[in-house]
Amino acid sequence: MDANRPPASSATAAAGAPPPPHVPPELVFDYEAALGPTALEDPYAPARQVFETLPPVFYSRSANGMTTGPGTWVCSRYEDIREVYQNTERYSSVGIFPFADMVGESFQAIPIALDPPEHNKYRVLLNPWFSPKAVAALESKIYAIVNALIDGFADKGECDVSYDFGRIYPVKVFMGLMGFPDEKFEDFLSWGYAMLHDMANLERVQWGARSALVYLRSFIEEVRATPGDNLTSRIVHGEVDGRPLTEDEIIGIVFFLWTGGLDTVAATSALTFRRLALDPELQQKLRAQPELLPEAIEEFLRTNPTVNSARIAKVDHELHGVQIKRGDRVLCLAAAGNYDPAEFDDPLSFRADRAPNRHLTFVAGPHRCLGSHLARRELRIALGEFLRRIPSFRLKPGADRTVVPGLIATPRLPIVWDVKG
Ligand code: HEM
Repeated sequence: MDANRPPASSATAAAGAPPPPHVPPELVFDYEAALGPTALEDPYAPARQVFETLPPVFYSRSANGMTTGPGTWVCSRYEDIREVYQNTERYSSVGIFPFADMVGESFQAIPIALDPPEHNKYRVLLNPWFSPKAVAALESKIYAIVNALIDGFADKGECDVSYDFGRIYPVKVFMGLMGFPDEKFEDFLSWGYAMLHDMANLERVQWGARSALVYLRSFIEEVRATPGDNLTSRIVHGEVDGRPLTEDEIIGIVFFLWTGGLDTVAATSALTFRRLALDPELQQKLRAQPELLPEAIEEFLRTNPTVNSARIAKVDHELHGVQIKRGDRVLCLAAAGNYDPAEFDDPLSFRADRAPNRHLTFVAGPHRCLGSHLARRELRIALGEFLRRIPSFRLKPGADRTVVPGLIATPRLPIVWDVKG
């Protein structure tokens, strides 16, 4: 054991069942707080600390609020994480998305909770709607949404850039893509918030998931009767294997897209603006050289990986010298892997022009984020327009600096700037 590694007893005590007998006690650490962002100044410091102080593969009895059983293996090294994502002979995604189960439904979340080769046929169906070309066609709508929001606060000299901006524009873009009516905006946010941020409260999670399912099913019926020019309609009238999709497949896809499209970009935006608010030089650089934005966004994504994905072991095997048993859960700590010096030169430095930048934020392998091109374009437009229109900004003095944890944690971020005249 490394001299600077904290003993198991120094880790957060976790309630819950003891680890299974095959887990060596010296590999058990309960590092819940480290698995999501915490303090605003350096949200992922605890995750990096995991990388620096804990074994490459360890066992945690709690993980991101998602573990109700005995616990999970956590891996933190870049190459191990890639191995877990890419080796679908060893690792399965079936069962990793618990929300349908939590409300007593039997449909699978598609495509996230399917393994190849089954998984591939749904990606073939969905990929064209999320291709770079399809996403480019949304560009003028994204500009319009982003600029309408900036219009609302540009003259005021302050806003909560997370609450008034980052949490809103991705949801509006996503709702337009899916064809959901604007008036569902607040409902979607509160259902999504209950599911993804109130993980410790099962009733709230169930309320969020059930409310969303009731609405999504009614919308599916609407577009079944009256097809429209939107993605929900294309899914409802879509085919796999030369046959129409079943009810379970349709809700499995629409429900997962709804979850994936709501919060991820919002959280990434908030954490991106956090860094900018704390770093006026970086703001200035990106204002002066907007052509740096695409690469800078990859670096924002590397340093703020908002999702930690898990897999279930299909067979007994060894990972980084640790015995994993069939059925064990393995959580990939992206925030640690994205700071692995074996892959990233000088990983603690933020380099707006880092290249290559093969971060794990959208994972690797067959489940690589379907919405990554959309997310990148949204972030580029939102950031570009904000920097173009709003002068140098900083955190509002006295602002709350905690990051509300959650499956995908999103901080509030009040900022101020000087208004001319
Ligand atoms: C910065 C924003 C985003 C981040 C960090 C992110 C992250 C991720 C991650 C980590 C996964 C892999 C999960 C796993 O394999 O366990 C994933 C998959 C997925 N994401 Fe995203 N996502 C983002 C934006 C979006 C958006 C905007 C959409 C849709 C509108 C979306 C839709 C999906 C879908 C459908 C999958 C499942 C892919 C599959 O299983 O084949 N994501 N995302």
